[in-house]
Amino acid sequence: MSPTTHPEPIRLADYRPPVCEFEEISLDFVLDPDVTTVTSRLKVKTRSGAPETLALDGRELTLKSIKIDDRPLGRDEFQVDREHLTLIDVPSTCLIEIVTTIAPRLNSALMGLYLSNGIYCTQCEAEGFRRITYFLDRPDVMTRYKVRIEADLASCPVLLSNGNPVGGGKLANGRHFALWEDPFRKPAYLFALVAGDLACLEDHHVTRSGRRVALKLYADSAAIDQCAHAMDSLKRSMRWDEDAYGLEYDLDLFQIVGVGDFNFGAMENKGLNIFNTSALLARTDTSTDGDFQQVERIVAHEYFHNWSGDRVTCRDWFQLTLKEGLTVFRDQQFSSDMHSAAVKRIADVMLLRETQFAEDAGPLAHPIRPESYVEINNFYTRTVYEKGAEVVRMLHTLLGAELFRKGIDLYFARHDGSAVTCEDFVQAMADVSGRDLRRFMRWYSQAGTPEVRVTREFDSSTGSLTLEFTQSTPPTPGQQAKLPLHIPIRVGLVGRDGQALPLQLAGENAKGETARVLELTEERQSFTFVGLDAAPVPSILRGFSAPVRLRSDLTKDDLLHLLKHDEDAFNRWEAAQSLAAEAIVQAIRMSPQRQPVPDADLIQAYSRLLEGSIEQDHAFVARTLSLPGRSFIAQQLSVIDVDAMHRVFKTFQETIGRELEAPLLAAYRSMARIDDGSTRTAAMAARTLKNAALAYLVIGQPAKFEPLAVSQYRQSSMMTDRLSALRILAEIDGAAGASLLEDFYGRWQNEPLVVNKWFALQAGIEDYKSPERVEALMQHPAFTLANPNRVRALLGTFSMANLIGFHREDGAGYRLLADKVIELDSKNAQVAARLLTTFGRWRRFDLHRQQMMKSQLERILAVPGLSRDSYEIASKSLG
Ligand code: TRP
Ligand code: ZN
Repeated sequence: MSPTTHPEPIRLADYRPPVCEFEEISLDFVLDPDVTTVTSRLKVKTRSGAPETLALDGRELTLKSIKIDDRPLGRDEFQVDREHLTLIDVPSTCLIEIVTTIAPRLNSALMGLYLSNGIYCTQCEAEGFRRITYFLDRPDVMTRYKVRIEADLASCPVLLSNGNPVGGGKLANGRHFALWEDPFRKPAYLFALVAGDLACLEDHHVTRSGRRVALKLYADSAAIDQCAHAMDSLKRSMRWDEDAYGLEYDLDLFQIVGVGDFNFGAMENKGLNIFNTSALLARTDTSTDGDFQQVERIVAHEYFHNWSGDRVTCRDWFQLTLKEGLTVFRDQQFSSDMHSAAVKRIADVMLLRETQFAEDAGPLAHPIRPESYVEINNFYTRTVYEKGAEVVRMLHTLLGAELFRKGIDLYFARHDGSAVTCEDFVQAMADVSGRDLRRFMRWYSQAGTPEVRVTREFDSSTGSLTLEFTQSTPPTPGQQAKLPLHIPIRVGLVGRDGQALPLQLAGENAKGETARVLELTEERQSFTFVGLDAAPVPSILRGFSAPVRLRSDLTKDDLLHLLKHDEDAFNRWEAAQSLAAEAIVQAIRMSPQRQPVPDADLIQAYSRLLEGSIEQDHAFVARTLSLPGRSFIAQQLSVIDVDAMHRVFKTFQETIGRELEAPLLAAYRSMARIDDGSTRTAAMAARTLKNAALAYLVIGQPAKFEPLAVSQYRQSSMMTDRLSALRILAEIDGAAGASLLEDFYGRWQNEPLVVNKWFALQAGIEDYKSPERVEALMQHPAFTLANPNRVRALLGTFSMANLIGFHREDGAGYRLLADKVIELDSKNAQVAARLLTTFGRWRRFDLHRQQMMKSQLERILAVPGLSRDSYEIASKSLG
């Protein structure tokens, strides 16, 4: 498509139900890398009961034949264009047979049926099924699937699809076949097929009603010994969904397959999840603790989709957050139950603020339920997923756990087997609680991060504290005026002696509770707490009860008080973050005239934390000692000065490392003793603090502590320790870094996922030589644009996590990224468009950089035949 014929957006307001239903589809695949034949037989029933014109979706298919009720159609009885097969006057009930061919080997988009290291696999969400056969490829068309797969026995001994295996056998010429049937009706986006030479790890789960479910994990035979953690995670997920939500698995077989080439993390196809190996494989020598947690989370996420997504699905793609927001919320609850709830919440909020808040403040801002899109693949965003999960969490906070659970029960009971909308979800919550959630619905339609301001007034004569709240949401593209939202604010009061005080609102009886939820629904509201002897320190937005930017009048002393005493762990962490953020932002503003240093109070607070760390949650201590993320700080600056930011962060880390040498070293040693090399929560937490301490020590005094990092690298057999040590050594650019990078590659060159870490580590080293280093790494024999994980490791990390390298003054980083986006766009538009999103931040930089980033966007837009995906991102970014 040329940039002059702009693709038209699709609008939620234009939704119409489909003209017909398919009672059943029988699909026959004769697999071949270059010419796979797909025969589809559709049992059609028009909704009107009269003949209808039927426009089936299809892309890059070669049509061989069409029959209706066994009668071959003539050339004048249908029309084919780039996106559709249109059949005129289709009888109200009939059988349509369509034969098409496709070429899996040439499929570099990784949507539809493709080959990954010799394994045939599919990805149909959102609109990949239309690359397999002509169909009504929309989630509100739900059908029963019968599948026959035929392939070469030697290269494809394993043949899988959704549901249950119902037959199979050998054929002539070294071929064989398998038959699968899925008893559950499903939309086409949940269809899956896998064929290849795969090893299998088997186990089983007995549901609480006593049914035995076979669990099968498939991967390349070289990787099958890295599947145990995923299997264990799956079993715990199944048990958890039964305990937490009363939801049982519904088939006798649950299968997961890992493939190396995948556009996202994983996919919840009914009974046959397909995973990126990066979200499936884990072994302590090849994977970090972060990887272990990621695998556990994604296995749970996809498994939970069996109910929140598969049994109850979305009516149309605008409703994507219905399944994704809810399922992310569910996987967050699961992880929180498996490990430390406070640390999980902190990690989720950091991610939200660093990525989603930035998205919501830029040209690509959209509500969790967008009103229009050009390419739906561009809307698998932090907003739809993570902000969507926050919206579900707010319902949980407003209703309380018990009513929320009733609401979920009602939602599944009411809508099982159907394709529904976000209104249906909120309606179930309203019905069980009797609450008016109409204003709450605005969260689904309004983009932008609300700002909540709070000021306080203490009246010592009456012993009352008044909190005055105002809320406002900044304009976002296409949405100038904003309305007030329904915002739950969890609060507490911390007394001068550090005690949690009972909360009694004026006009209420005392209940003795020390935490409660205030509800904002208007632009301005105030709440008065009574019965107070002295002015307490308010602890506001505990647990980050709403996805807002909070501006309070808390002083530095108040924050230090909360850091010490708040019973809400999240707000203890938040107090430390606010103190550090404030100091960093100030230092950036005055740099480079004065040497930026963290103030003594912050250092002292860190020191106290370290000294008290033995009794505490060590991962919590590590998080609290960590400086806020770059992106979080950048959002608070009017113009992002990358050089000043870099200098300030570095100086802060150096100063902390030097001034806290003794307590950091003590923490390092005691954590090393606690760390038993397992992946239990406590051992992972100890390693987190150990490696945080090591980083500060080495940055603070490179000459003195480089040997400690070198010996950790050499002595540990765990990837977490090795990679942490290597990262810090590469960053300080000392004597050991380069040779250990080589050593690392030499050891792990046959493990693709570890090679990704090697690329990412080097792409993320923040220095002015990075564009050349990244350029050189692209020439490395192990680099390829064909593998999304590798592209993300090198180019994703460089453009998202290497501030001074990517934004180098001469524009070398921008050119490099744009070159590769253009090259990738014709091969895998989905991955190209995603890489391109960084350019959308151009308005946040100085004029010189703005110009350079804009001209790269213009250059991309001018590419003949640019994909819909990249067109949408680039044009909206400039807009
Ligand atoms: N539904 C998947 C999830 O659980 C997302 C996903 C996987 C996806 N693969 C995709 C989305 C390809 C679009 C294209 O989050
Ligand atoms: Zn999902």
